[in-house]
Amino acid sequence: MAIVSSGSASAGAAAPREPRRRLVDPAAQAGEEPSRATEAADTPIQREDSLRPRRLADYIGQSELKQVLGIAVEATRAREEALDHVLLYGPPGLGKTTMALVLAEELGVRCRITSAPALERPRDIVGLLVNLEPRELLFIDEIHRLNRVAEEILYPAMEDFRLDLTVGKGTTARTRSLPVAPFTLVGATTRAGSLSSPLRDRFGLIQRLEFYGLEDLQAIVLRAAGLLQIELDSAAALEVARRCRGTPRIANRLLRRVRDVAAVGGHGCVGAELVHEALSLHRVDARGLDASDRRLLHLLQHGYGGGPVGLDTLAAGLGEDPATLEAVVEPFLLQQGLLQRTPRGRVITEAGLAHLQAHHNSTAA
Ligand code: ADE
Repeated sequence: MAIVSSGSASAGAAAPREPRRRLVDPAAQAGEEPSRATEAADTPIQREDSLRPRRLADYIGQSELKQVLGIAVEATRAREEALDHVLLYGPPGLGKTTMALVLAEELGVRCRITSAPALERPRDIVGLLVNLEPRELLFIDEIHRLNRVAEEILYPAMEDFRLDLTVGKGTTARTRSLPVAPFTLVGATTRAGSLSSPLRDRFGLIQRLEFYGLEDLQAIVLRAAGLLQIELDSAAALEVARRCRGTPRIANRLLRRVRDVAAVGGHGCVGAELVHEALSLHRVDARGLDASDRRLLHLLQHGYGGGPVGLDTLAAGLGEDPATLEAVVEPFLLQQGLLQRTPRGRVITEAGLAHLQAHHNSTAA
């Protein structure tokens, strides 16, 4: 399987914030053949690749998703067909891209990766579709941002593996049909509700990714620590798990920060105390909230008497984009019961107030 990354916007969507480094290929470390995925050109998704599970059996958590997709993959392989189109939705960092790559690996095909903002002109999506080989995966991140023209090109491609192209202009314009290889579209979105219903209806499998539980996150941290050759005890892994907002991508980021502090301090095996110290330095609190989460709760409480307050007002007060606030910041606060969405606006909960107070006490101490 190989990754073909297309377009700068796709790079932006998955780009890590830290500078690129050489890859640590988990397969190479385990003495296996290196994955072609991690051999691919210098794509910006490489850093995350080093820790991504490659097979369903290595993918920790999301048991319902794994079960549903595992059955679909097995049946598809037996029929020697392309897998049905898959829509994955849920908050960022929960493994949508990873799952697309795992599916490609399980099916023994290539995965081409792009993002809707990179498909601005009709020829962008047409170029991708005509170059697909039978049964390949086309992964489109942020699929809710696809423009109307690109969506309409996709419909016959998804349904009948056909492209309907308009050739010429005005009265001489004609429609030409071109065959497309049977392929699987894997769409990913943080905002399933923003997808047009004709597009949503063309996916055979629609699956939500959930926040991970503590036990799964602890296992993910221990696996990543092994791959990064960090000595870390299980209490330390649990401490990282508690502070990563239910999100493996954040867990792995925090783990790297812990590794830095451990290296600078000349520590050997990392314990829970060091995790606490390292993550407090990065203002990640005991429940995993960062400074922007606390700013939201603080503004809600002290600027608007605890709410209710509308999303746009809250976003303006924080200098944030309302869509980002809704899709990226709020889901974890809602899931933790620190914030509530009501018909009249956002409200801080008793638990939210208690958390602000506890954080204030711990930093004042
Ligand atoms: N790394 C990031 N997400 C993971 C997952 N779900 N399972 C194993 N390792 C991971």
